[in-house]
Amino acid sequence: MQARIVLLPGDGIGPEVVAQAQRVLDRVAAKFGHQFEFSTHAIGGCAIDEFGDPLPEQSLTACRAADAILLGAVGGPKWDDPNAKTRPEVGLLKIRKELGLFANLRPIQVLPQMAAASPLKQEIVAGTDILFFRELTGGLYFGKSGKETTAEGETAWNTMIYSTHEIERIVRMAGQAARGRRKKVTSVDKANVLEVSRLWRRVFERVMKDEFPDVEFENVLVDAMAMHLIARPTKFDVVVTENLFGDILTDEGSMLPGSMGLLPSASLGSSGPGLYEPIHGSAPDIAGQGIANPLATILASAMLLRHSLKLEAEAKAVEAAVDAVLSAGHRTKDLAAGGVSVTTAQMGDLVLAALN
Ligand code: IPM
Ligand code: MG
Repeated sequence: MQARIVLLPGDGIGPEVVAQAQRVLDRVAAKFGHQFEFSTHAIGGCAIDEFGDPLPEQSLTACRAADAILLGAVGGPKWDDPNAKTRPEVGLLKIRKELGLFANLRPIQVLPQMAAASPLKQEIVAGTDILFFRELTGGLYFGKSGKETTAEGETAWNTMIYSTHEIERIVRMAGQAARGRRKKVTSVDKANVLEVSRLWRRVFERVMKDEFPDVEFENVLVDAMAMHLIARPTKFDVVVTENLFGDILTDEGSMLPGSMGLLPSASLGSSGPGLYEPIHGSAPDIAGQGIANPLATILASAMLLRHSLKLEAEAKAVEAAVDAVLSAGHRTKDLAAGGVSVTTAQMGDLVLAALN
């Protein structure tokens, strides 16, 4: 197969981890007889520096024409000035919105060989296998917002808005995914307080009853979910929730396997290219040192192979290679607990070797 893949390395450790994932994709292409054509474009803080825009037009145009997009991370202290004209994060939100990437899949698995790396007790986290569906183009992040100054001082507001259609389409994706898994969907909301959550819950229940009678479902309030997620993570299969709740819960969930450095994500729309990225950020504190964990981005490239290129065997091969490297005891600094660690590039080498 021939595929055009756009790389958006971004800021901080983004370029370091994307470079390793690109090596892995190159090796997959060689091994399985595909042709992947890569082009690299700017997003985030580095794009602000170079073009004055966190998502320059030429980056967006290239992404629209691609089969899939692999992104590193955006942001850093250099661009954190609250009075700045724009921010790196604006680029990320804009590309999600422009490409209609409403479904953010964030799998959280605790591999048996990694359970000891979790800050939680092994017997609680072992066997965790959750697939989060975070709604990605609605809610508070994209609702009406504003600020005003009155005699009393300043006021600012954001609004959490969802419409039936936005809820239905993400719930359907979650329901379909559950069919290929353990057939259970948990929806997370705050229906005891928020009107928008009551709509979310009504639509969720209707879609599940009408279209997925074979899939079990439940509702959990977001505050309770924050607790259940660390108290009994193995209870959950597919979880579907709105944008902000999903942002927060998946960061919390990333601590189940012990490091954000292991977790990939896929952002998908109803058509067009998908966008794949690690769920960790740009980690400016360790950028440029060659110690970042590239496995989340390598696993994101496996999701890219699976979801955008429909190359299931290739995706499994990458995941198996990562598994093998971790089983053999190799760890980057984030997971080494002060013990022996390998560099970003060495971890890339190990995955390549395991792929052969
Ligand atoms: C994420 C990140 C982004 C988000 C930021 C960088 C805008 O935290 O992908 O989870 O909040 O969506
Ligand atoms: Mg986040």
